[in-house]
Amino acid sequence: MAGFDGNRVLAHTGARYPIIQAPMGWIARAPLASAVCRAGGLGIIETSSGETDACKAEIEKMRDLTDAPFGVNLPILFLKDDAMLRFICTSGVSFVTTSAGSPKAFIGPLKDAGITVYHAVPTVEAAMKCVEAGIDGLVVEGSEGGGFKNPEEVSTLVLLQAIRRAVDVPLVAAGGICDGYGMAAAFALGAEAVQMGTRFVSAAESPVHANYKTAIVTAPTTGTYVLNKKASPCIRALKTARTRDIFERGLMPPDTFARIKDLYFGGDM
Ligand SMILES: Cc1cc2nc3c(=O)[nH]c(=O)nc-3n(C[C@H](O)[C@H](O)[C@H](O)COP(=O)(O)O)c2cc1C
Repeated sequence: MAGFDGNRVLAHTGARYPIIQAPMGWIARAPLASAVCRAGGLGIIETSSGETDACKAEIEKMRDLTDAPFGVNLPILFLKDDAMLRFICTSGVSFVTTSAGSPKAFIGPLKDAGITVYHAVPTVEAAMKCVEAGIDGLVVEGSEGGGFKNPEEVSTLVLLQAIRRAVDVPLVAAGGICDGYGMAAAFALGAEAVQMGTRFVSAAESPVHANYKTAIVTAPTTGTYVLNKKASPCIRALKTARTRDIFERGLMPPDTFARIKDLYFGGDM
């Protein structure tokens, strides 16, 4: 496509535009991912919900909803066993992003199955290790992004420049990108694609409740907290009465995500 000649992420993914919809537990399923694919971007199906059978079914559903290529995410620390990895290797999926943990043990089996593998990294050191291990590309995740985060915050701006200097593989910029200006800035810093999460949560085709979408589109630039910095997982979340309480206490109670579906689909903020 004119304008993106020589773009290595497009060559790897087969998408028309270098715009990737981020994997997100329960949200990044066939309705949203297939809409992104039909529009020429790359939809990614999540497996972080841990619902292995449901995620397998979503991958199958994609083929009924679009002829375009799509990807799957494997969040390494959240996988209970190797069921999802084994399924992906025989599923015909040709693009996988790994995240949350070291991809070392996953790169070999995925590449042997003919699958292109990108890993999400929050630091230069992690990027260099992935390249040594044979990764095909990197999702460079700056601290502006929503969801689980490295507690050592490095912005997308700083991280992209540093990783671009250190490695030659294609880079996908993620964290804080929400429009064409952000995409252009990422390309100026050496990225060949962008991955957006929060922006796609608020899209019309996203399955989440209107309360959640409204909270995103009305949030000011100061509208998020980074929670649980001294423990794990550290996350960036929208400011609400509940997240203010967690922020002020400093630590996140272990049952924090127990009712996440009431937020996503019931709109209980
Ligand atoms: C609600 C939500 C859930 C997420 N879940 C995952 C996940 O399961 N796996 C993953 O690799 N990244 C996950 N992420 C991070 C995204 O992949 C992406 O890198 C991030 O959203 C980019 O920043 P942005 O939200 O500013 O666009 C999640 C992000 C959000 C907002």
